Amino acid sequence: MSNGNYWGTKKGLIYLLFQRILWIIIVIFISVSTIVFVQADNESFLRSNNRTTDLKIGQQVYDQNCVVCHGPNGDGNGKEAHRFETKPGNFTRGEYKFKSTYPGSLPFSSDLYHSITNGVRGTAMLAQLHLTDEQRWAVVEYIKTFSGRFEGKAISMNEAIVVPDPPGRTTELISSGGQLYRDAGCVKCHGESGKGDGPSANELRDSQGNSVLMPDLTKMPRKMGDKPEDIYRLLVTGMEGTPMPSYYDVLDESQLWAVVYYLESIVAGRRENCMGMMGRMMDMVGEECIGMQIDMPAARARMMGRRGPGMMRNMGRE
Ligand code: HEC
Ligand code: HEC
Repeated sequence: MSNGNYWGTKKGLIYLLFQRILWIIIVIFISVSTIVFVQADNESFLRSNNRTTDLKIGQQVYDQNCVVCHGPNGDGNGKEAHRFETKPGNFTRGEYKFKSTYPGSLPFSSDLYHSITNGVRGTAMLAQLHLTDEQRWAVVEYIKTFSGRFEGKAISMNEAIVVPDPPGRTTELISSGGQLYRDAGCVKCHGESGKGDGPSANELRDSQGNSVLMPDLTKMPRKMGDKPEDIYRLLVTGMEGTPMPSYYDVLDESQLWAVVYYLESIVAGRRENCMGMMGRMMDMVGEECIGMQIDMPAARARMMGRRGPGMMRNMGRE
């Protein structure tokens, strides 16, 4: 360490070399799989008006694209699941973190479609943009069958969370949001600073008894969208199956907006990209990099620029 430059040391060089080689292998694998899988891609799965056929298609899509993580029974114990800190959703409980319905209500099919289409930022759940619309709706119907909660239930449009018009973003509103952040107990879990180091943070468990990973609220992107209305809905419904509570009965509309604006005001930047240069080019954060190594068809779609910056945006446009 003569000049204190890590990259100038032998260890630094070996690390860089290792990273380059790893990515070259991944890129070659993805390119080859493009050729192999293109055949299997789309046309053969068209949505019919027949539920049995839809479920059959959904199962086919699931077995090919989801089973490695979510498991054959939908319980989240796929063979790659041990590699992630944020475990794949367990569909057998019918509890969904990401939904736009009031607390206690089942999610809409469109909520599941939304998670599949956009992925969950920072986790191994990548946007499934290699699937056609029909395939995504069919797999939504299929994963609902893993839980008895959906059986024979139609979810009324009245369950959709109403997001009222946002008030003006004033400094008073932001500071009252800060006060509410303390008074409503967010601090207990998320910590004074929002970094996830509240006094209860270490004891938190999800509904299956697993420890939970606290998000850093000062960093973007957030799991399910960064827009104020996304955060408003999240505060209304909470995150089912996790300690993140619903504030529907706790805060009124203007208080909810105040907290939303406060959360915006504490954002200090973006999460660091994983995997060095490659990660920066494709704006990958957290466990998205592990997802990219497992979910090749989705990784390919992302590289082709169907989502985010897209490493091959100019080369790969259809
Ligand atoms: C590489 C692993 C991986 C693959 C492949 C994968 N998922 Fe996921 N999925 C995850 C992880 C991890 C989460 C949990 C994200 C979280 O809880 O923050 C998740 C979450 C979800 C959610 C949201 C659950 C909730 O609580 O709201 C849905 C829906 C979902 N996945 C459906 C699918 C479907 C359908 C496929 C296949 C087309 C698929 N996933 C493929 C890892 C994966
Ligand atoms: C009992 C603990 C607890 C309390 C109280 C709590 N949260 Fe959370 N919150 C969590 C946990 C745990 C998660 C992460 C759940 C997951 O992703 O699986 C979370 C997630 C979030 C997220 C989503 C972050 C992302 O990356 O998408 C936001 C925003 C949030 N909380 C804001 C708040 C606010 C504002 C309050 C108070 C009004 C609050 N929370 C109260 C435990 C808590």
